[in-house]
Amino acid sequence: MILLTGGAGYIGSHIAVELLEMGVEVAIVDNLCNSNRSVIERIESIAQRPVVFYEGDIRDAALLASIFEMCPIEAVIHCAGLKAVGESVTMPLAYYDTNVYGSICLCQAMQKANVKKLIFSSSATVYGPDAEVPYLESMPRGVATSPYGVSKGMVEKVLEDLGASDPDWSIVVLRYFNPIGAHPTGLIGESPQGTPNNLMPFISQVAAGVLSKVMIFGNDYPTSDGTCVRDYLHVVDLAVGHRASLRVLDSPGMHYYNLGTGCGTSVLNMVQSFIEVTGVDIPYQFAPRREGDLAAFWANVSKAEHELAWRAEKTLNDMLSDTWRWQQYAIVHGH
Ligand code: NAD
Ligand code: WQD
Repeated sequence: MILLTGGAGYIGSHIAVELLEMGVEVAIVDNLCNSNRSVIERIESIAQRPVVFYEGDIRDAALLASIFEMCPIEAVIHCAGLKAVGESVTMPLAYYDTNVYGSICLCQAMQKANVKKLIFSSSATVYGPDAEVPYLESMPRGVATSPYGVSKGMVEKVLEDLGASDPDWSIVVLRYFNPIGAHPTGLIGESPQGTPNNLMPFISQVAAGVLSKVMIFGNDYPTSDGTCVRDYLHVVDLAVGHRASLRVLDSPGMHYYNLGTGCGTSVLNMVQSFIEVTGVDIPYQFAPRREGDLAAFWANVSKAEHELAWRAEKTLNDMLSDTWRWQQYAIVHGH
């Protein structure tokens, strides 16, 4: 059985489906601070298999100890955390508390239970603003520009020190690029609370008529059309990447992988492609640059391809049409 922290969230729910569909038992712990209990039922309805769900906090040592006592956990996939970059600037303590202290609490509970296999949700943001593109796992971590980004780098360092202290640990650090899209059933996807900060949910809420237009932050970057370039990958491909990473947990030590497509797409291209794929008009306007944004970055994905035999398979069209299918379901069902 795998313990999945944050499994009711956007990425975690897709990982849960993948694991269940490959026949793995899953226990989820999530405090639902950025998700909804009904996600658990929707995971079960897609996979047609039950999930063990604990509503609670990863910083609750007693809860974690009881989960390890009650469930035959062999490995942990750790997705729980706070992820809004802007909010982390105004609430740094909350971010370090949940992301760093929460990860330490989890590792302490794992150590006590003698479960030493961990996959951690990290981020491309750990490469920092000065890294050369495409990003390679062998590059050093940079100084991330937000408390959120710093918290991810701090957890990576904690895990490295833990791994160095005890050779029995096997730790996979997955550095996600820009996950978008939703499950093709349209039953699970990203549901940001309030106005979205990220591009994809913003575009889809404009398409749904919830928001009036997309503001494109900056059109004077040194890129082909002047707008920022990112490596967007389908959340189902990302979830499959976790499934592929499970094999690596049989080898003790630290393992780092970029999970992206290896290709960059500009903001303008995203908006125009969404219009083409869905047939829905998206009014947009150029606006000043957003503070802290980098012009362009994408992943070098050779390591994941060779060592995990994993490659993102879905196209940009899949990402956009699946997002739109989910957005329409979410509006109708109030998610
Ligand atoms: P999400 O907010 O949808 O999911 C996170 C889940 O963790 C939520 O269900 C939330 O309720 C839960 N959670 C938060 N604090 C908790 C706590 N203290 N105890 C228990 N549960 C808690 O976010 P997501 O997009 O699914 O991201 C999952 C992970 O991937 C995060 O660690 C995030 O930093 C990382 N990540 C996300 C992205 C992205 O663009 N979405 C990119 C890189 C890395
Ligand atoms: C993408 C592009 C914006 C909104 C963030 C985190 C990163 C990772 C993924 C967790 C940028 C532009 C956006 C809008 C716009 N998360 N944009 N108008 O900033 O690449 O990455 O999410 O680890 O750490 O920083 O993603 O979706 O916010 O922005 O023009 O209304 O879209 O300027 O160029 P970002 P994003």
